[in-house]
Amino acid sequence: MAINTAAPLELTGKHIVLGLSGGIACYKAAELTRALVKAGATVQVVMTEAAEQFITAVTLQALSGRPVFTNQWDSRSAAGMANNMAHINLTREADAVLVAPASADFMAKLLHGRADDLLSLMCLARPLATCPLLLAPAMNREMWAHPATQRNAAQLRADGATLFGPGSGDQACGEVGDGRMLEPEELLDEVIAFFQPKALLGRRLLITAGPTFEPLDPVRGLTNLSSGKMGFAVARAAAEAGAEVTLVAGVVHLPTPRGVRRIDVRTAQQMFDAVMPLAAQNDVFVATAAVADWRPAALSDRKIKKDKNNATPMLNFVENPDILASVAHLPQPPYCVGFAAESHDILVHAREKLVRKNVPLIVANLGPATFGRDDNTLTLVDAQGHRELPRADKLTLARQLVLEVASRLNNKSDPTKLPA
Ligand code: CTP
Repeated sequence: MAINTAAPLELTGKHIVLGLSGGIACYKAAELTRALVKAGATVQVVMTEAAEQFITAVTLQALSGRPVFTNQWDSRSAAGMANNMAHINLTREADAVLVAPASADFMAKLLHGRADDLLSLMCLARPLATCPLLLAPAMNREMWAHPATQRNAAQLRADGATLFGPGSGDQACGEVGDGRMLEPEELLDEVIAFFQPKALLGRRLLITAGPTFEPLDPVRGLTNLSSGKMGFAVARAAAEAGAEVTLVAGVVHLPTPRGVRRIDVRTAQQMFDAVMPLAAQNDVFVATAAVADWRPAALSDRKIKKDKNNATPMLNFVENPDILASVAHLPQPPYCVGFAAESHDILVHAREKLVRKNVPLIVANLGPATFGRDDNTLTLVDAQGHRELPRADKLTLARQLVLEVASRLNNKSDPTKLPA
């Protein structure tokens, strides 16, 4: 299974108490434990009696590397505490309690503050200020849709819990619908996102990513080496920061970051047509796409064949619209961030683009040194100067860029200034 490889050890230093209530989705908790540990977290598993019907404590003990707690009369003490009260001690050092799966019954119990087993007792006794409660509901679609469960979910949110999912699809019972627990890698992404600062809460971002493809005939076309990784990382980082994100993607074979709305396009013209109606509704436009500057003047509807004399075909081109410049010249443009992938003299070219495209911020990088790679070095260039973001994985850089953009949005008096 593909577990988040973009930026490893994202949860280093985090201590997660993973609670399992009873449900068939308990089998996914094994993979989830492994994924959380692999991401650097320490994981303390607590199971209800019902959960033990679906998976053994031995499995989770092996995967978490810690003894599993299952009942409230357990006299072992956690976190070096001497009071022998597992329900108190387990959450005192925790950064979050994640209940996955959270059954319909367990959610109903939490709602009423009932505490007749270790897991519910521990959730009730956790310090509200320091130990958030994260729930991954898992149940049959009728149980999830029932007004009682919907009421409970809404009230649990109002009481401060965060719900991840549920997802939709095939269910263990044979039915199809909403209620299945998110997959382990989706839950891992949710947990990682939960711990990111919500610097863009309430903001809307529009992002372009990847290469465009300009067809010549039904089987050929012109494109470039952009992988889309940087744009997808920016989309993920912005969504993690609480923004509502729309990602207009060229021909990119990458999974859509969670919570991001994706529009797939092929050509520069299609990208332009997708972006322009949305641009004014967004607070920020980040143009990471490597847009083809020209397209073939004529598109052959049949494959271009070699002629008898083997003459080289002549190609004529017309210029594509400049999407970034068009957005930046709108009467009330969003805050525009351009990217400049250069092969040389990056500062000179970035500065020239800043002016030509009328944007407050250009992010410059060396194209040949970054296309397809997982890491990069970025230089932020604005009217005042430039600042380098040193080499790091693209997700780390994207998070830094998101914080930079958020601070510029908040600093209305001087939105172009690069902070020290
Ligand atoms: N861009 C765009 N639409 C285009 C061309 C570029 O939106 N038709 C955006 C890119 O997404 C990027 C920025 O403009 O954010 C700079 O792109 P780049 O290709 O480096 O600049 P060009 O204007 O094409 O200049 P040149 O090819 O001469 O470097």
